[in-house]
Amino acid sequence: MNSTKVERSLEDTETELFNPNVLDRLSLTSPEGLVIRPLKSGDYDRGFLQLLTQLTQVGNISREQFLNRFHMMRSTNSYYVIVVEDVSLGSIVATSMLVVEQKFVHNCALKGRLEDVVVDDKYRGKHLGKLVVKIATLLAHYLQCYKVSLDCKDHLIPFYESLGFIREPNNANYLNMRCSKGNTTEKSRLG
Ligand SMILES: CC(C)(COP(=O)(O)OP(=O)(O)OC[C@H]1O[C@@H](n2cnc3c(N)ncnc32)[C@H](O)[C@@H]1OP(=O)(O)O)[C@@H](O)C(=O)NCCC(=O)NCCS
Repeated sequence: MNSTKVERSLEDTETELFNPNVLDRLSLTSPEGLVIRPLKSGDYDRGFLQLLTQLTQVGNISREQFLNRFHMMRSTNSYYVIVVEDVSLGSIVATSMLVVEQKFVHNCALKGRLEDVVVDDKYRGKHLGKLVVKIATLLAHYLQCYKVSLDCKDHLIPFYESLGFIREPNNANYLNMRCSKGNTTEKSRLG
């Protein structure tokens, strides 16, 4: 088997986090040289976790840990991690995540949460941030979520407001309770 065939067969075994047809239905146009797609299992090797470190602390995640989390997320059909890949480099340069919560309220509605929006610092200011947020919100509409919410640093409020998010009067607070710093996936009791 020649090396191209070996590469192709490795690529073929890659799994997507969610059905890419969903993105096709949004009629998106990718900026030149970039591809918009769902997170893939092989993105461990395309700098996905390194990109997330530009947002927050990520930790030293092994391939096995990454794949376990990837497949758990995939099995729920509730996690939509969108990535933008620079195809010439084979690296992930922007990402956002829509998490779809299943509710009892509002007639068993779905609620979207926008999480983990980050653009590689070398690609900022080119409207990729806007693009990945827009895609997540289009996806939320497509999936028929009744609303999408997010939390962000104060200085990013204008960024999100420019994309249609609003601070609703009497409902613009976001509260946290930090749990133990030592809590890790290994210790978690998640089914
Ligand atoms: C925030 C972030 C995603 C923006 O990405 P980006 O690709 O540089 O943003 P865009 O080029 O799409 O900018 C869109 C608009 O928002 C504005 N904007 C971008 N970053 C901003 C910031 N930090 N504060 C205020 N406005 C900002 C831009 O000026 C631009 O305005 P314009 O449409 O009038 O030109 C990026 O800076 C980033 O990854 N930061 C680190 C991680 C982070 O903080 N993520 C957000 C977590 S809530």
